[in-house]
Parts: sequence; structure tokens; C-alpha cells
Amino acid sequence: MNLDHIKPIADADVAGKRVLARADLNVPVKDGKVTDDTRLTRLLPGLKSLCARGARVIVISHFGRPKDGPDPALSLRPVAGRLGELLGMSVAFVPDCVGGEAEGAVAEVGRGQIAVLENLRFHKGEEKNDPAFAAELARCGDLYVNDAFSAAHRAHASTEALAHLLPCYAGALLLEEITALRTVLEHPQRPTAALVGGAKVSTKIPVLKHLLDKVDKLIIGGGMANTFLLSHGVDIGKSLAEPDLVGDAREIMTAAKHRGCAVVLPVDAVIAREFRAGTAHAIVPTLAVPSNAMILDVGPKSVAHMSEVLKECKTLLWNGPLGAFEVSPFGEGTFALAREAARLTRAGKLVTVAGGGDTVAALNAAGVAGDFTYVSTAGGAFLEWLEGRELPGVAALVQAQP
Ligand code: 3PG
Ligand code: MG
Repeated sequence: MNLDHIKPIADADVAGKRVLARADLNVPVKDGKVTDDTRLTRLLPGLKSLCARGARVIVISHFGRPKDGPDPALSLRPVAGRLGELLGMSVAFVPDCVGGEAEGAVAEVGRGQIAVLENLRFHKGEEKNDPAFAAELARCGDLYVNDAFSAAHRAHASTEALAHLLPCYAGALLLEEITALRTVLEHPQRPTAALVGGAKVSTKIPVLKHLLDKVDKLIIGGGMANTFLLSHGVDIGKSLAEPDLVGDAREIMTAAKHRGCAVVLPVDAVIAREFRAGTAHAIVPTLAVPSNAMILDVGPKSVAHMSEVLKECKTLLWNGPLGAFEVSPFGEGTFALAREAARLTRAGKLVTVAGGGDTVAALNAAGVAGDFTYVSTAGGAFLEWLEGRELPGVAALVQAQP
């Protein structure tokens, strides 16, 4: 797959054309209000550029996971409203994404205007990647642009089939995301480090296996590090671990050694007897975890060691927290290392790319997301890219080229 063959929408003549723009409007909404508009904010430059160039912009997206057809609780109407507020213009909302009503409403959208169509997943054909449903969608546009990198791991009608039916382009945000990932994985400034954390190693094995071929240092933290400690015969007390994956952990360590990739594990830990906010806790070496305690964060020595590793590196890819950061005081390790990565980035010494839902929440909690070189809007898609997988939504943009 030659990603250089993807055509940017910036190169297309969009004036007067109906541009069917696949966005990811799957944002958190509570009581009819968008509670985190990061994804919307990141779409704004691309949408504004389309409007400025005279496009008639028709935004399509999924929202949540409706089980059985239309569900008023999963309507995109409030999201469309918020998008309009952020854009500072009125954004029309169309209560269906296909059919006569949708096509009629789309015909009314003028140059430089935007309409948002209702949740694609209200139709079964969307998740089935149904060509007939994609053909219905295609009737609402002259051009197709995919700006939903965070949904590109789904082979759905709006992310895959549709790309084969209309002249297709990549949106500004999708290109930004891919460029950031390629910078880190394909032509990084060396040495490079990957920090992989999170609760379970089972969800990250393919990521670790792929990354150990790409990076010079692999920093492992979070609950998943416990399985690695276990594979070294360390007694981790009551800590979360996946003992059946000890073999995989060993395999990863051996493969890393062969490739000359240094694996960095925590040397100390914040432990507690129970997982509860404000509970009594202590800092101990990972070799001295009492049998009635559990590891909930990395300790200060680990942070210091990991910081030294970052200082030796020029590029950092970060996915997953180092501890149970949502519950105080078990976020300190993640926050401290995030601050150090941010400091090195500000000083121009480190290129930092981070992604994944929890990761971004942790960086936000540390107050440093804005200091990273690039923060992805994607969760699952980011992870699949780190596994070295081809994302159907991206592949379609390449393959659909004439
Ligand atoms: C996401 O939020 O991860 C994307 O919008 C994809 O949503 P999905 O996991 O429901 O397909
Ligand atoms: Mg998801």
C-alpha cells in the first residue's frame, strides 16, 4: 500500500460541489451536551477550508453503537449544534442520512454551507459495508473526503465502500494523523522510544511485537508491566496480571534482545492493599511487593529512570498510562513522566506523538497534551496502526485511486 498515492482534498477543485465529508463526530455527550469537543475542534480547519473554497459540505458520521435502527438517544443533532457553535456559523441538521428527504435537504445546501446528516449506524448497511447503502449515500455527494482517521479501522460503508463510488480524497485531519504516525514509525529521528502502558498486556501484544522492530527502547508500564515482572519470577502480590501470557512476555523480551531493542520495566512501584481513591499506599522496589498488596503505579525511581531514557532519545511514541491514573494518587507516575516528555518537547529535544483514549485523558489530566508534538484523536485506529495493520478506511483511499 503506497500511502503517497492518497490524494489530499486540498488539491481538489471543490467549488460548487457537494462534498460528502466522513468525519468522526463520535464524541462524549451527556444530557444532550458535548462534554469533550476535542474531536470537533480538530475538524474545524478542514471544514473551514472547504467552506472558504466554495464547497457545499455534507458531513456524515456514526455516533455510538445503536443496536437496532434509529435511537433518539444516539442522534447526532446535539453534536451538529455544537459543531455549528464552534464554527461560528449555522449548520443544518438532516434527520436521515439517505433517502428522498436527505437528498432534498442536501440539494438546499449552498456554497460555503454545511449540513450534518443523521447517525449512519441507524441503517444496518453502514456496519455491513453494504454496497447498496454506500450507493445511496453516494447520491448525496459529488466528491468524497474521509477525514475520520479514528474510524478508519472500521470497514464500514461510509469509510470503505463509499470511497470506491465517488472521486475520493483524504481530509486534512486524516492526513495529519497519518503523517504523525509515519514520522515516528517510518523515518524517525533516532534513537526512538515507545512507551506502552495500560492495564492488560493481552490487548497490547501485537503492538509490542510490531514496535520492538521499529524502536530502540521499549518502555513498559501500567498493569501490563506486571505480567512482564511475573515472567522474570518477581512476586507481584495481588497485582493485576495475566499469568497465562507470561510466555508471550518472555518471547517479547527475547525478540527485543535479538533486535537490539532495550526493554525498560518499572524498578519500583506505588502499592496499596485495595484499589480505592485516597487509600493508604507505599512505595517499594518491584522486588519487594508484599503478598497482600497490589501495584497501582510506577514509583519515583522508575520515573527517574524512564526520564533518563527519554533524554537519550529524539523521538517518543506514547500509548497507554503507567498506572491507574484515574484514581488518586495513582496517576503521579504517568503525570510526572508526561511532564518530562512535555518539557523535552518544548525544549526541541524530543518529538512526541501520543494516542489512544486513556493516553489522551492522562495527558490532559497532567495538563501537558498541548505540549506534545502530536496528539492523535484516535483510539482503536491508532492502536491498529501501531500493530502494523492496514486500516480499511485508509486502504480504500489508496486503492480507490484510478
Ligand atoms: C472511536 O470512538 O473509537 C471511533 O469513533 C470508532 O467507534 P467504534 O469503536 O464504535 O467503531
Ligand atoms: Mg473505539
